[in-house]
Amino acid sequence: MILSGSASQTLAARIAEATGEPLGAAEVEYFPDGELNVEVTESIADRAIVVISTVSNDAHLEALLLQDAARQAGAKEVVTVVPYPGYARQNRKYRPGDIVSLRTVARALSPGTDRVITVNPHEADAEEMFEAPATAVDGSHRLAAPLPGDLTDPLFLGTDQQARPLAESVHNSYGTGTVDHLVPPAGSATAADLAPTEAAIDGRDVVFVDDFVATGGTMSTAARAATDAGAERVFATCVHPLLASGAWSKLLRAGVEDMYATDTLERIVSDVSVAPVIADAL
Ligand code: R5P
Repeated sequence: MILSGSASQTLAARIAEATGEPLGAAEVEYFPDGELNVEVTESIADRAIVVISTVSNDAHLEALLLQDAARQAGAKEVVTVVPYPGYARQNRKYRPGDIVSLRTVARALSPGTDRVITVNPHEADAEEMFEAPATAVDGSHRLAAPLPGDLTDPLFLGTDQQARPLAESVHNSYGTGTVDHLVPPAGSATAADLAPTEAAIDGRDVVFVDDFVATGGTMSTAARAATDAGAERVFATCVHPLLASGAWSKLLRAGVEDMYATDTLERIVSDVSVAPVIADAL
């Protein structure tokens, strides 16, 4: 039985469709004091699949409560699908005194589950941060599907070196074009100076690829640089469309013609479903 967290209702329904598992009735509401209440009113005969992107502090707590409610309803196995794991970017000790918050929340989710499935985590070692068996699946190849089929000599550009494998994945699925990634020039950390490592942009259609877009700062700066360098059409793709702080309008103003992202987060651009990839891992 699939139990959907409030932040992942669309994806949960699609996973139910892809797997043939029924969607269970999980009610989530707030008490007047702001605390969460979760109820699973049906009994669960075998396994429960809790689907919840932990995109907010409340969603983290909701995930814990849903795991517990699933057990109480009789689940013999609990699988927690965390398509987008929150605190993804607090994956290092950047300053003295920092903690690796991603590890903290991964550990918190572990006792209540038999295994975890997540999608394209920002942190390469994310699976090891859980204390339950965890699998990271790759949904990036699915981002090619909604792209226009008539792109001119398309250049698939990872927004940095870490995003290059994602760009290669989208390129392989699209079937034509070339791949590169952006690097800041030596001595510069400013995104405004970003330039492709090798490829020429002039006269080509450019598809930017990243694991996620948060404020849109990285992608919009890159888009503007591509337009200035003579790109014909510019598209943005990412796995996790956080789209905080007016990011969507920032991208459009930077010349991005359209953006395609997956449904690990439910946003206006979440045209691509990772449900089939998750279903294969279940
Ligand atoms: C960085 O390593 C990430 O892959 C993203 O490029 C970045 O965090 C996106 O953030 P923003 O949209 O705020 O620039």
